[in-house]
Amino acid sequence: MALSKKIETPTGAYEQPLGLFINNEFVKAVDGRTFETINPHNEKPIVAVQEATEKDVDIAVAAARTAFEGPWKNVTPSDRGRMLVKLADLFEENVATLAAIEALDNGKAFSIAKLDIANAAGCLRYYGGWADKIHGKVIDTDPETFNYTRHEPVGVCGQIIPWNFPLLMWAWKIGPAVATGNTVVMKTAEQTPLSALYASKLIVEAGFPPGVINVLSGFGKVAGAAISSHMDIDKIAFTGSTIVGRQILQAAAKSNLKKVTLELGGKSPNIIFNDADIENAISWVNFGIYFNHGQCCCAGSRILVEEGIYDKFLERFKARALKNKVGDPFHAETFQGPQISQIQFDKIMGYIEEGKAAGAKVEVGGERHGSEGFYIQPTIFSNVTDDMKIVKEEIFGPVCSIQKFTNEADAIKIANNTTYGLAAAVHTTNLNTAFRVSNALKAGTVWVNNYNMLSYQTPFGGFKESGIGRELGEYALDNYTQVKSVRIRLGDAMFG
Ligand code: NAI
Ligand code: MG
Repeated sequence: MALSKKIETPTGAYEQPLGLFINNEFVKAVDGRTFETINPHNEKPIVAVQEATEKDVDIAVAAARTAFEGPWKNVTPSDRGRMLVKLADLFEENVATLAAIEALDNGKAFSIAKLDIANAAGCLRYYGGWADKIHGKVIDTDPETFNYTRHEPVGVCGQIIPWNFPLLMWAWKIGPAVATGNTVVMKTAEQTPLSALYASKLIVEAGFPPGVINVLSGFGKVAGAAISSHMDIDKIAFTGSTIVGRQILQAAAKSNLKKVTLELGGKSPNIIFNDADIENAISWVNFGIYFNHGQCCCAGSRILVEEGIYDKFLERFKARALKNKVGDPFHAETFQGPQISQIQFDKIMGYIEEGKAAGAKVEVGGERHGSEGFYIQPTIFSNVTDDMKIVKEEIFGPVCSIQKFTNEADAIKIANNTTYGLAAAVHTTNLNTAFRVSNALKAGTVWVNNYNMLSYQTPFGGFKESGIGRELGEYALDNYTQVKSVRIRLGDAMFG
């Protein structure tokens, strides 16, 4: 089987690498296995890629170890930064192709995929800037001793990413890992292997030595599990479901106690007070749940509205949701494309049926959209209670519930009544309400009068069962460095 293939997209053709990317080369999997990736718009296979097993993980880890102990150590921090900045430039030069691959393989709108690529480039460049600004401290303890700390790389980092933002998650993980001098074995999601392989070509062009970044296509239970339990991987970073997050933590505990950071699910509240700018709030609430077809870990899926504006808000929000253009990712006006897979489609439709059976009222949507592709109508449920599954569990689709609250204390109580704690939002024109409620919400990110506005300069991560550690910003550097304390004796021997 050839290790690349010409693929046609509605915006033009390109050459798609299909191999595992190890030591700066595309190679066949040891066992010769391949798997197909599906276009969620028409449910048809796009192409088959090489599938990594434990054996390929071993080879990639050995490559990453060799690079870490040798060539990569000899690259100066400034040159590491230069390579990341060059990679960012290459992302921008290739934005049309990268966005087309995302739209094809993931189903997100081409116009929105271009924003993902711009953000991925921004993130890589941002961490390129950090590469030569990683430093420790000199700590004065006494005149006889000189103490300093070094922030050293952790080593070989396993990184397992999901399918909802394939290249953005790639950049979030690779940026801080490489900036701080680590090497990487990345496993992409089995639903969306293509864009990362194309980006791997750019790694070579950016000048990274072989083995610094290795990218494997493969399944979670095989390649993912091999990474989490590997004895020569020093750290693992994971984004995905809470259930797999727990498995990774267990695998780390049972193997070599590799350091673990987890970015997991959410059931985030979006709170609208009586005094909110209602039109502004509606547009952010709509974006908060329906962006990326509801497939966001931070999706604002529980909408809480103060009773004074509830009826007015619901009517206008319904009208707004119905205006979202659902359809072909390559149509210029499309906002919402298909869900990623048959499995996710069935899971979401299952939640919708569950909600209906439990007595919740479908205000808008509640059905599949069209007859081909994994499309689901934007859906709003009212008449919900806190114990319903659709209110408690992450649906990861274009489905939200709307609830009424009576006052600020009530809003905070409902908002925090979840095992998750990834994000939350407050819509109000009262400054005091904004601060008080932001402080009271148990979530890693709180948006005031906006939603889903992430920035690679600011940390992102979860309270409670939404995760461990922070990604993005300066905070992410802590996950990828370990502190060494060096104490140098200046004075005479102390004990004779
Ligand atoms: P998942 O957690 O199974 O997949 C995420 C990544 O983990 C993929 O690369 C997968 O191959 C890998 N993986 C799966 N099992 C593994 C294992 N045992 N060991 C190591 N790696 C493993 O998520 P999935 O099945 O794609 O989606 C299910 C649900 O997860 C969604 O409905 C959503 O609720 C949540 N999810 C959350 C995401 C987030 O951004 N936090 C992203 C994707 C899914
Ligand atoms: Mg696909």
